[in-house]
Amino acid sequence: METIKITKTKHSKLSELDFDNIPLGKIFTDHMFICDYENRSWINPRIVPMQNIATHPATMALHYGQAIFEGMKATLNAAGEPLLFRPEKNAARLNTSAVRMGMPELPEEIFAEGLKQLVSLDREWIPKKKGSAMYLRPFMYADEHFIGMRAATTYKFIIICSPAGPYFSERIKLFAEKKYIRAAHGGTGEAKAAGNYAAAILPTEKAKAKGYNQVLWLDAAEHKYIEEVGTMNIFFKINGKFITPKRDGSILDGITRMSVIDLLRHKGFEVTERPITLDEIKEASENGTLEEAFGTGTAVGIAYIQEIGTDEGTIHVSDDSPVAKEVNDTLNAIKIGESEDVFGWMVPVS
Ligand code: COI
Repeated sequence: METIKITKTKHSKLSELDFDNIPLGKIFTDHMFICDYENRSWINPRIVPMQNIATHPATMALHYGQAIFEGMKATLNAAGEPLLFRPEKNAARLNTSAVRMGMPELPEEIFAEGLKQLVSLDREWIPKKKGSAMYLRPFMYADEHFIGMRAATTYKFIIICSPAGPYFSERIKLFAEKKYIRAAHGGTGEAKAAGNYAAAILPTEKAKAKGYNQVLWLDAAEHKYIEEVGTMNIFFKINGKFITPKRDGSILDGITRMSVIDLLRHKGFEVTERPITLDEIKEASENGTLEEAFGTGTAVGIAYIQEIGTDEGTIHVSDDSPVAKEVNDTLNAIKIGESEDVFGWMVPVS
């Protein structure tokens, strides 16, 4: 690959950041990584000072939605060395999303090198407080100026970084949505496509207006099977065993999801990936076998579920989530090098 050209900022904003009070998702580091796709190749990888990107009004991503993204976190170990969590999984998933959205794949070397060099340059921005991290947002979009409807011929791949304070995960209440859906078989549900998130906004706002925190997404055909929660995958513990919806093309292939499956099995729990109906969860709640439920995602980590509202009434889940908390603690400890990285997940940024 071409060498990454680095232009450093002359005006670092780091001294303006109050590490004890970081507003979520609003602060960005001094630099960003950019790479252009032109004439069927990725060219000109560069790190530049954080800046606006010129947007022609006919930029195709704005009209036809060829836009995909990833979410990742960089943490620090005790020696102050930045670590990335399974970055190769994000690189691979970005390409799965790209293929589905008719976009070009990005060589994984560009993803990995761009990420490492950017995180290394802006490492001082990684918060040191326990539970904090630097959120990384790699994304790709069609930047050709063209009003016709076809795959764009030019794209940009960009990585931006945003320091994030400790995330205190309160117990959440979900609303099982039967009118709107997140994704259907054959659609774009498995891709981390911007449009999937756009489609979730209205139902989420409606659920919030009713006093819930997130939407529990059901399958598109029958509104019977559980798919995901908000922007997370979902797990249930029934009678000592864990279940999570089986990936079938409409569910996001969550990296926290796959890691939690490994961790639970490592702790000796049985985990089954299979179709799960809302009725089955209601029944388990009623007969006292529903022990825990939680969502998993990069931004939130693990979100403990308290109850699920439905059109027919409330399904009580649990008032505590001891195993989910233990898994969350283990995951967080691995991310800062405090627990042994038995799976070899962490990649140092040297
Ligand atoms: C993440 O968890 O990283 C996501 O991509 C969800 C996003 C909407 C914040």
